[in-house]
Parts: sequence; structure tokens; C-alpha cells
Amino acid sequence: MGAGKSTLGPVLAERLGRPFVSIDELVEERTDSSVAELFAARGESAFRELEERAAVDVLSRRPFAVVELGGGGLNSVTTRAALDEYAFTLHLETTPEEAWERVSSSGRPLARDRDAFEALFEERRALYEAANGSARDLDGAVLAAAGVHVSEGALERLGELVPGSGDIELVADEHVDPLYGDSVRAAFGARVSGSHVVPAGEPAKRAVEAERLWSALRVGRNGAIVVLGGGCTIDVGGFVAATYLRGVAWISIPTTLLAQVDAGIGGKTAIDLPEGKNLVGAFHWPARTVIDPDLLATLPQSELENGRAEVVKTGLLAGGPLWELEISDQVRSCAAFKSAICLRDPLDRGDRAQLNLGHTFAHALEAASGYSMAHGHAVALGLLAALRVSGLEDDARQVEEILRPPLARVDREAAWAALARDKKAEGGRPKLVLLEAVGKPRVGVEVESRVVRGALDTLIA
Ligand SMILES: NC(=O)c1ccc[n+]([C@@H]2O[C@H](COP(=O)([O-])OP(=O)(O)OC[C@H]3O[C@@H](n4cnc5c(N)ncnc54)[C@H](O)[C@@H]3O)[C@@H](O)[C@H]2O)c1
Ligand SMILES: [Zn+2]
Repeated sequence: MGAGKSTLGPVLAERLGRPFVSIDELVEERTDSSVAELFAARGESAFRELEERAAVDVLSRRPFAVVELGGGGLNSVTTRAALDEYAFTLHLETTPEEAWERVSSSGRPLARDRDAFEALFEERRALYEAANGSARDLDGAVLAAAGVHVSEGALERLGELVPGSGDIELVADEHVDPLYGDSVRAAFGARVSGSHVVPAGEPAKRAVEAERLWSALRVGRNGAIVVLGGGCTIDVGGFVAATYLRGVAWISIPTTLLAQVDAGIGGKTAIDLPEGKNLVGAFHWPARTVIDPDLLATLPQSELENGRAEVVKTGLLAGGPLWELEISDQVRSCAAFKSAICLRDPLDRGDRAQLNLGHTFAHALEAASGYSMAHGHAVALGLLAALRVSGLEDDARQVEEILRPPLARVDREAAWAALARDKKAEGGRPKLVLLEAVGKPRVGVEVESRVVRGALDTLIA
């Protein structure tokens, strides 16, 4: 009570694309009286029965909703069983002082006497803390729901952040294992039954590497694969976890800026074929994603710049200059933004397409360069083209100032051919993600070939 549930709940529901239901309000609707009136006229136990019935109804109903349940509701064994069965429970953290501040003037039946209120808070504390996740703010709530943890020093606390007791096998990037592999192995101690190293960069995503891992893994169905590295390691490690034994749990520990704000989140996994990138893959949500911005300290400057293009992309979609924040806050905001979109559209059938802002152009440039061009460089240029086609010239100039991407040195015809082949093209007409304004993406916009070609040409030296 007084944690801010009724303020945060509806906004959280909107971000996750779900309905919002307040159990108190539902009881009030069903009985046509206020909670205070119910307490006064029929007593607390009558209210608790109505509350329990409403909670069980709502929790077992689809579509799943964001449900606000008062602290007292947790005393019901039936409600707790329904929560276990159907819900992800989130504890909205607060202190007794903050909570009293919020409710003391509300006239609520259980918020009339400060000492009694604080005693109740302490009495219920253990029930709150048994929740599946906890948060203090909106981004925190989204991240908790997605199983994503972001904090500096998280790697040191891995043992407590990733509960469980099954075997663990580590898959790590060859550059990253010597830097952080021992911390991971130390955190899981005797649970670690194997460690595997994959090549740095895109070569990790060859089928031969996946096959090598399948053969080397010994982890059982109750075990988990911990994947430590940039987007390439995450992609192959996640894909192997999705397919080995028809799927084992995995834990994603992204170590590049790009992977912390993008690839490490959302459960898309893939390997490459000679015919193209990411052609074989699976959706397999990581049981946990642990993001430690401190790990970026060892990242080469060029890789930081790569990730920065995705941060700018996220800011353009989210509608704010996220790139101006402290790096750890950039990571947290971007991770929360991507988490919310992926929770809304886990199988990439709708909303998630917006994450491709600038990417139709980027993929064309990358392909035309024979994949020698860094993804972030291509995305930086792709964003310029997307903004120009959107008619947002001022924003394009601003992004150019921030990212300063050199023009691509690729063959124009090859880039155009690659764009036309892009999987988002239908009937030869490219479909783009554009912006009506910063923060207002539109997906699947058909644009005249001539205009797309013109924008592509401006990116090439
Ligand atoms: N699955 C998804 O949703 C998704 C989203 C975006 C991108 N991706 C994929 O991600 C890949 C690109 O990932 P990336 O940009 O992270 O590149 P990457 O994995 O190749 O890592 C870049 C380089 O940084 C090194 N490195 C990583 N972490 C380090 C650290 N903390 N300190 C020092 N060096 C470190 C690596 O060894 C590598 O040389 C692409 O294959 C792309 O397709 C996937
Ligand atoms: Zn990208």
C-alpha cells in the first residue's frame, strides 16, 4: 500500500501493450461501493473474499493483463496459488516512510494510524519480497518483467542475480573469456561443468561453430548455458541453447555496448549461412540477461561507436536524446526500451519491426561491402537516410553531428541490388521504417523506389 502501484500500473500496461486491471476497482465495480464502504459495512474478511474471487478471475483470464493487487491480497493462499500459476509478480519497492507519505491522507481503512500502518508493512514484508522481481521505477518494472538486470558491478554479484542449482556451461568470446571468464566461473563455483570459447566477431556465427558447441556440450535439461560476449557470441550461444536437447535455459551476459542495448535482449538468436547473415535461428528468450556497464571499460573505441549508433536509433524511436545520458543510464534506458517492445511482440510479428529503423539501408551497405563494414557504421548512415526519407532534415543533421559517419566506400549498384533483395522488400518495392516525428515510428511504409535509391546514394562516397 502506498508504493505507487496505481500510478505506475497503467503506464506499465501501456508500455507492454496489455490491459490494466486494478483488483480494488474491480471489487468496487462488482459491489457498487467503495473499498472503505465495504470495510465499514461488511468487515475486512468479506472484502478479502471478494478480492480473492476477483483476483483469481482476472489472473486466469486472457489476454494477460498488468494487474494491481493490494498487499493484503497476498494473505490469501488461493490468490497466491493463482499468482504462482499465471503471473509474474513484481514487488514495487518502497520504504514505510514513503508509503505513509502517500497514503496517510487517503482515508483508506488500513492507513489511519501510522504505527499500525508500519506494523502491517513489516508483517507483510516477507510476502512482498517473495515476488518474482522487484523495481523502483517504470524502466525497472519493464526490465524485471523481461528478466533483465542492469547495474554496474553486476558481474561480481552474478551468483545472487542468477538463482538456481543446475549445471552451468559457459560459452565465451575468445577476447572476453580472458577478461571476465574467471569472474563468471567463480560466481557459479562448482555448478560450472564446462567452458567453451568461440572466435571473436562474425566467424563465431558459422554453422561449424554451432556444431562444435553441440558436440562439446554436456549440460542436461535442468542445466543452463551462460553466454558471455558481444552480439556475435550471444547470437550463436543463444541459438545453441535454443536447439541443444530441443532447448535448454540460457543466461545472456552481453559485453559490448551494441549487445547491452540490443543483441543481448529479446531472445532472437541466429547463425549465418554463406548465402547471408542470420538465415538460421530461433526465438529463445534468455532466462536472465545480466548487463554490467562496467564491462564496457575494456571495449575498443571503434566498438563503442558501433553501439552508439544503436543508442541513437533507440533515442529516435523512444523520443528523447538518450545518447546524452551517462553511459550506464544510456544502457539502462535502451535496454528497457528494447525489453518493452520485445515483451509486446516476442515473435517479431508487429511492433518489433520498428527496431529496424535505418537497417534496410544499413543491411544494403553491409552486403555491398562484403560485410567488411562495421554494423554500427552502416546503421549510423542508415539512420541518416531514414530521417531524410521521413522528411526530418533537421534531425538528420543532428544525428550526423553526433555520429559523424564517414560515407560508405561501396559499389552503388551492388548496394541497390542488395536493398532490393532485402527480406523486407515485397514485390520489388522496399518497405521502410520511417518516423512521423522523433518518437513516432511508422513501420511498413511503402516508398517510391526512386526516393529510396536517392537516399541510399547520399550515403555512398
Ligand atoms: N539477436 C539480436 O537481436 C541482435 C541484435 C543486434 C545485433 N545482433 C548481432 O550482433 C552481432 C554484432 O555484435 P557486436 O557488435 O557486439 O560485435 P562482436 O560480438 O563481434 O564484438 C565486437 C568485438 O568486441 C570484442 N569484445 C566484446 N566485448 C568486449 C569487452 N567487454 N572488452 C573488450 N573487447 C570486447 C569482441 O571480441 C569482438 O572483437 C551481429 O552479428 C548482429 O547480427 C543481434
Ligand atoms: Zn542493428
